[in-house]
Amino acid sequence: MSRINLAVLLVVGLLLVTAKQSMQMSLRNPTAEIETSNCKLTVLRVGLVFTSDHNEKAVIDSGLFTNISYVDIAGRTFHVGTLKNTPIVYVKTGTQSVNVASGVQTLLLKFNISKIVFFGNAGSLNGSELVPGDVAVPEAVAFTGVWEWEIFEAQNKGQLAFGHFNYPVNGENLLGTVAYENITLYSPSEDPKEVFWLPVPSPSDKAATEELTKDLKLKECHSGRCLPGTAKVVFGLKASTSDFYVKNKAYGEFLLGKFNASTADSASAVVALTSLSNGKPFVVFQGISNIVGEESSNPEISYIASRNAFLTAAAFIDLFPTQRLACE
Ligand SMILES: *[C@@H]1O[C@H](CO)[C@@H](O)[C@H](O)[C@H]1NC(C)=O
Ligand SMILES: *[C@@H]1O[C@H](CO)[C@@H](O)[C@H](O)[C@H]1NC(C)=O
Ligand SMILES: *[C@@H]1O[C@H](CO)[C@@H](O)[C@H](O)[C@H]1NC(C)=O
Ligand SMILES: *[C@@H]1O[C@H](CO)[C@@H](O)[C@H](O)[C@H]1NC(C)=O
Ligand SMILES: *[C@@H]1O[C@H](CO)[C@@H](O)[C@H](O)[C@H]1NC(C)=O
Repeated sequence: MSRINLAVLLVVGLLLVTAKQSMQMSLRNPTAEIETSNCKLTVLRVGLVFTSDHNEKAVIDSGLFTNISYVDIAGRTFHVGTLKNTPIVYVKTGTQSVNVASGVQTLLLKFNISKIVFFGNAGSLNGSELVPGDVAVPEAVAFTGVWEWEIFEAQNKGQLAFGHFNYPVNGENLLGTVAYENITLYSPSEDPKEVFWLPVPSPSDKAATEELTKDLKLKECHSGRCLPGTAKVVFGLKASTSDFYVKNKAYGEFLLGKFNASTADSASAVVALTSLSNGKPFVVFQGISNIVGEESSNPEISYIASRNAFLTAAAFIDLFPTQRLACE
């Protein structure tokens, strides 16, 4: 090998070492700088979205994510890197729908995103279908926290009648009833329309499902605490989202009975609505962290749930055609 070749190798090596250190990009034109930095962006990235520290810990602990750079926009950090071989950007949005929506919208406006992959925790509304540690991949999700609260003894009664839940005996209740409202779905290709269920284009066809779950090894223990059984992935269920955290068993049973919703969380419908409004494909992975109305005796369950939702999401991302960065 000639001296010149050696020198070139040295320089390239040094560049690689420098590139390894994750650097905050300038805020003036963050994405442009990422594209003109050592790693020229030649591909669309997958946008990985989650809400909590637990979720982020699941990503980092997996060792599957490699940091390239990060950008702070609107108070959130957008981490640019790779998940195994797939270029991604991930963002922790924070909880509550307004935070989730602004995080996803910012991601879509500032980066070239091929699809949104969301993972998070959810409560099971049907303990014989989903137990803690399982992962649900819903096919539809509704906002069940958008209410018209009717006057007492109104002519038009809403689906939720508080009197039906009086204790110890049912009767009339001054809180009256609540009617569940539709939400306006804006989209780039159609006029705005009122909908209740938001369809999730989940990978639920047979081939994709088999591929996704083939080598998937879900986590069953953490810090010495284990699940009572083997965790599973369940496709094709319905999910409910609201800004309030559902711990109440009677209300959980109502959501299951009235809407056939198998899970309750506070983010999935937001990700669905924002993605649909931008005409972006998306998928939702929910790690079950509790059964609504039951106390959990396993303090590690929330982390295990996050980890399993992330592992399923990562397996799904891995199914995409491998996209490579030009600098690799
Ligand atoms: C990526 O780099 C940033 C900045 O150095 C750091 O704060 C963050 O923890 C890193 N993330 C991961 C997943 O290593
Ligand atoms: C996406 O990529 C195209 C083509 O490289 C570029 O013109 C555009 O500015 C990029 N958009 C964002 C938000 O980075
Ligand atoms: C709960 O799930 C089980 C198993 O999938 C199902 O047989 C049952 O009908 C569900 N319960 C309700 C109320 O939907
Ligand atoms: C909500 O939208 C559905 C269609 O998704 C429609 O069938 C239903 O009548 C609407 N409900 C209300 C209260 O507007
Ligand atoms: C309710 O959901 C279950 C799956 O959780 C499904 O098998 C069943 O067909 C649904 N029932 C109705 C009435 O939609």
